[in-house]
Amino acid sequence: MTTTFSVEPGGALRGDLRVPGDKSISHRSIMFGALAEGRTRVSGFLDGEDCLATLAAFQAMGVPIERPERQTVTIEGVGLAGLRKPPAPLDMGNSGTAMRLMCGVLAGQPFDSVLVGDASLSRRPMRRVTDPLAAMGARIDTGEDGTPPLHVHGGQRLRGFLHTLTVASAQVKSALLLAGLWSDGETCVTEPAPTRDHTERMLVGFGYDLQRDGRRSCLRGGGRLVGRAVEVPADISSAAFFLVGASIAEGSDLLLRHVGMNPTRTGAIDILRLMGAAIEVLDEREIGGEPVADLRVRSAPLQGIRIPQELVPLAIDEFPALFVAAACAEGETVLAGAEELRVKESDRIQVMADGLSALGVRCEVRPDGIRIHGQAAFESGTIASHGDHRVAMSFAMAALRASGPIVIEDCDNVATSFPGFAGLAADAGLGIRVL
Ligand code: S3P
Repeated sequence: MTTTFSVEPGGALRGDLRVPGDKSISHRSIMFGALAEGRTRVSGFLDGEDCLATLAAFQAMGVPIERPERQTVTIEGVGLAGLRKPPAPLDMGNSGTAMRLMCGVLAGQPFDSVLVGDASLSRRPMRRVTDPLAAMGARIDTGEDGTPPLHVHGGQRLRGFLHTLTVASAQVKSALLLAGLWSDGETCVTEPAPTRDHTERMLVGFGYDLQRDGRRSCLRGGGRLVGRAVEVPADISSAAFFLVGASIAEGSDLLLRHVGMNPTRTGAIDILRLMGAAIEVLDEREIGGEPVADLRVRSAPLQGIRIPQELVPLAIDEFPALFVAAACAEGETVLAGAEELRVKESDRIQVMADGLSALGVRCEVRPDGIRIHGQAAFESGTIASHGDHRVAMSFAMAALRASGPIVIEDCDNVATSFPGFAGLAADAGLGIRVL
């Protein structure tokens, strides 16, 4: 039995809420805290299954980590040379971030290790990290088609390397910078377009010497990280469901507190504003090296747009929600250059297109994107989420503009990134029931 969401049509989102902590920053807080010297205390941590998989992996490698209360983690860092061989394969669950970043960490260890994941993660491409790591001297075996499980051979001597990435991927960039910590000489990564830079910010925050110049980041191996306090802002990727829900549901007025506003993450706000959304950014401040703000969003009529190419990597996780907004906009919305969406937790172009079609929305799928024809309302229907958390939450919000109930199947994985989603959304006014 898996979780099903049943969502009544109509309603509006109102009130004042804080969504859970940022997933990308939470993963990295565990990794850098574990590899640092001294104690790291993390507050605002995302207690979701993905980040807990990262936490358990470091515990299995001998790092003392405690969770004294909800959303709080203390880590007694063991330093860059302090990890121990895990007694069993490390299970990264549903998390591509955990598995790919761990490749960079494990490549530089003296011991062998194995990384495994759930059915979705076991289908995702890993050569994008294992190939460039091999250029640094790492040895990681993948399945025949480049998928997990991954066997990481320890005891390899890593050499710094000047990487020029062809895919705009923060996971790949981060894995290579992490491996650089254990490499001789300098490791540089140049990315084709800006992607989320939490790794770079956090390395500097933990006292590591990292040089940044435009789209290039460089570091030398052999330094040290120093434990510190980390305050994780609310996840803009989780806030995005509410930004879309409040935009499409007439009469909505919602305040989202303490949202991470790192400029490499705010593409969804830019895209929604181009569509006509009424989003105000209030009380901008910086906390622990990351910009944060409160967001006020009110319902507004949306127009279809051609999504600017440069915003694609900056909104890469928000497209399922943005497709729901596009389906309620006047006119057509066109997305291109987003083939990466096909290798996320599901094939998000096809799975979203199938779901939109099931609700009566006309759309045309392309290899690298989609064209969505906006309309007044969604029809009632049943959605197969394919176990993709963001697909499930996006279609839950669609009910705000539907003519009948929307049922979403296979919603267990909402707990990977947004524990408590249904409760928080119901409190704000969504007619959601968990079956
Ligand atoms: C992430 C990077 C992105 C994003 C993922 C989190 C990260 O993946 O989709 O949810 O924390 O580095 P890619 O690097 O594959 O684009």
